[in-house]
Amino acid sequence: MTSAELPELSGNVALVTGASRGIGYGVAEALVARGDRVCITGRNEDALKEAVDRLGADRVIGVAGKAHDEAHQAAAVERTMEAFGRVDYLVNNAGTNPVFGPIADLDLNVARKVFETNVVSALGFAQRTWHAWQKDNGGAIVNIASVAGLSASPFIGAYGISKAAMINLTVQLAHEFAPKVRVNAIAPAVVKTKFAAALYEGREAEAAAAYPLGRLGVPSDIGGAAAFLTSAQSDWITGQTLVVDGGIFLNAGVA
Ligand SMILES: NC(=O)c1ccc[n+]([C@@H]2O[C@H](COP(=O)([O-])OP(=O)(O)OC[C@H]3O[C@@H](n4cnc5c(N)ncnc54)[C@H](OP(=O)(O)O)[C@@H]3O)[C@@H](O)[C@H]2O)c1
Repeated sequence: MTSAELPELSGNVALVTGASRGIGYGVAEALVARGDRVCITGRNEDALKEAVDRLGADRVIGVAGKAHDEAHQAAAVERTMEAFGRVDYLVNNAGTNPVFGPIADLDLNVARKVFETNVVSALGFAQRTWHAWQKDNGGAIVNIASVAGLSASPFIGAYGISKAAMINLTVQLAHEFAPKVRVNAIAPAVVKTKFAAALYEGREAEAAAAYPLGRLGVPSDIGGAAAFLTSAQSDWITGQTLVVDGGIFLNAGVA
């Protein structure tokens, strides 16, 4: 969509972490397409600037930094408030999965890093958007968790534990921030991004065959779900985890 084709401004503003590509970009794109102004974050400044230009620099700003860095969290919320005067929605999307294999011998420093990026960062951003805008004015938070947070895995256990914690963070924040702010999570299965490429590259048809809906996810699938959870259509939904998985979880039943 070119900026000439964008709708009237909705008046709402979102902060989406980790959004220079992949799912975060798909979420930002969906929110911009309905008229929101958006602040996106990411570590690589050049990639972030390119994403801002693609999304439309008249409606989107970028603040570079690492999600777990508290100074970056503060800067992202402050810049959003300065540029747009409000922050209605927070989408905690930045995440990491640096390790594969059983957790029996997991390096605890790696475990700390996974938790720091996937869980503590999301809490930090939520605290800051709450105090800067949402506690007085309302809004919504969406945490991008994972189906890995809903079951065990032989190879991404540490990541799954962190995503399970993110799901309980969602429940806890939903309780504490009600009635002003709704807090929900999305649990995607495999979505075609750089992050997940190792899971399907070179064998996409085989990987997709396991999905009742016959394909892997794409970032716009999650963008649509995030747009719903930050809209009036979901005004009576809070503390929930929306599984967006092409039906893959349906396979878990007894044959
Ligand atoms: N793809 C899947 O199959 C899948 C499934 C379930 C859940 N998820 C979750 O979805 C989220 C996004 O994943 P994705 O697949 O879209 O990944 P991706 O394609 O690798 O994109 C990640 C985005 O986040 C930024 N980022 C990464 N680490 C960051 C950090 N520490 N601080 C700030 N920004 C950071 C990246 O930019 P820079 O590299 O420049 O920082 C990039 O913009 C993650 O939380 C992931 O756990 C993904």
